[in-house]
Amino acid sequence: MPAPRSLTARAERDQPKQLVVRGSTRVVGIIGDPVDHSLSPVMHNAAFAALGLDWVYVPFPVKEKLLRQAVRALPALGLVGVNVTVPHKEAVLRLLDDVSPLASKVGAVNTIVVRAGRLHGENTDVFGVQQALRGVALRGGTALVIGAGGAARAVVAALEQIGVRRVIVANRTLARARNLQRRFSTPAFQVESQPLSSLQDPRYVSVARLVVNTTSIGLHGEKFPAMAVEASPAECVFFDLVYGRQTDFLRQARAAHRRVMDGTEMLLQQGAAAFRLWTGRRPPIEVMRAALATTPRSGGSRSTWSPS
Ligand SMILES: NC(=O)c1ccc[n+]([C@@H]2O[C@H](COP(=O)([O-])OP(=O)(O)OC[C@H]3O[C@@H](n4cnc5c(N)ncnc54)[C@H](OP(=O)(O)O)[C@@H]3O)[C@@H](O)[C@H]2O)c1
Repeated sequence: MPAPRSLTARAERDQPKQLVVRGSTRVVGIIGDPVDHSLSPVMHNAAFAALGLDWVYVPFPVKEKLLRQAVRALPALGLVGVNVTVPHKEAVLRLLDDVSPLASKVGAVNTIVVRAGRLHGENTDVFGVQQALRGVALRGGTALVIGAGGAARAVVAALEQIGVRRVIVANRTLARARNLQRRFSTPAFQVESQPLSSLQDPRYVSVARLVVNTTSIGLHGEKFPAMAVEASPAECVFFDLVYGRQTDFLRQARAAHRRVMDGTEMLLQQGAAAFRLWTGRRPPIEVMRAALATTPRSGGSRSTWSPS
């Protein structure tokens, strides 16, 4: 006897959606080394499924010495584009046909779009930071940025666009902080460089409306250098680009009852911007957010910790 229609419909609804890749499927992805920890595939594939798009997002592990071959092959393979992650965001710049003024200013590309066989480079990390910080009053204020790598440059570019007046960059290698200062400082946007020990100096922490960790300390549970958190204004926000875990940086801020944010919203928003660039469609943000929230992190743990 055939099953009642309502039962069949429910069974179909409850079936996990199967990913079907055909000859017509449009392909995007991520290149980096490593890429196995990346949450971008689940976020983008959930978005494609929700909009009924015949698209797929694939992680491609690419070693440094093969970067040129991998990038130049994108048009030949018919890919629509890729995200670029560590360690290729800077090296990829010179392999592209054109780069947006923003990506060029930041000196890093995190999104490639293939247009008529040409490789175009964009930086959507800057937009991701801006969006993540939209609830924080920063215009005209001072921010303390810890780290001076590619992510720090995206953060500083975003802070400039938001209207922050002064940024103090504290980094282990002072020369790198100085490079960042030279790249961004203008009379209207003051960027200073300091050693990492300045985090313990109340003179720097007490003027900050925002303290951002852009270093990778905490990614694997490492202890963060001591900070003079108590000297920060009560409304100061502590923002860690590392996502989905209670890092020692955020633990120190929480212990002093400061507001904290992790890097999940930045990850989501930079991904949403890349989605829009590739598909021309409005990204289903809530679907992407839910996919990030429900996916177990590497090591098997689900993101049960949530920033305030
Ligand atoms: N949430 C997101 O969407 C998002 C997006 C982009 C990046 N990120 C995260 O941001 C982090 C940095 O990425 P990146 O591309 O900027 O890397 P990067 O270019 O390699 O820069 C790493 C930075 O961390 C510092 N650092 C590393 N280990 C350190 C240690 N033990 N003590 C002190 N400083 C240390 C480095 O200092 P030196 O200059 O002294 O070496 C440098 O300033 C990563 O954790 C990445 O996952 C998150």
